[in-house]
Amino acid sequence: MTGPSLPIGPPAGDAGVGGAVPAQPVTLRVGLGGAAASGSLFDRIGGAPTFDRLVRRFYEGVQQDEVIWPMYPAEDLEGAIWRLSQFLQQYWGGPSTYSEHRGHPRLRMRHNPFRITPEAREHWLQHMHDAVESLDLAPLDEAELWGYLDRAAHAMTNSFD
Ligand code: HEM
Repeated sequence: MTGPSLPIGPPAGDAGVGGAVPAQPVTLRVGLGGAAASGSLFDRIGGAPTFDRLVRRFYEGVQQDEVIWPMYPAEDLEGAIWRLSQFLQQYWGGPSTYSEHRGHPRLRMRHNPFRITPEAREHWLQHMHDAVESLDLAPLDEAELWGYLDRAAHAMTNSFD
């Protein structure tokens, strides 16, 4: 006899990489056995100013990078900062300004024009790691944010030769 079927594995779709909300809700607790930390990660880490700091710091590193900087629009750096910051804010529960201006994120498609090799991905991740660390977040918030960025960067890799 077979038992009731249980939902196994992640929901169908793009596993949350380019979507509007994190795929798997988690409950964060303040200390061992503590109360659930409420609110979105967007709110917990300080809202828009924190995301702007993150992305500006990230682009400071990218601008020094000989592998990936040539892909970016040097003449529209402020635009690129705005797009990445707004996307991340929206993803983590902040305002949906990104989609109001840019439509559905479709991040894999938007990255098709760029040749994202494992080497390029590791350079991107290095600058993002420096930027995340510079925020000095609570460990669980940092782990949640970093885990997503790392998975998303792997999903964005589109060239293996
Ligand atoms: C894996 C290495 C990656 C490389 C080399 C890369 C490269 C780029 C480049 C060259 C652009 C164009 C800059 C612009 O005009 O805005 C861009 C845009 C963007 N990237 Fe990435 N990217 C990577 C990973 C990621 C990841 C992991 C995310 C999300 C977590 C992301 C989110 C975005 C967003 C939101 C935009 C702006 C899209 C738009 O509205 O046009 N990228 N990326």
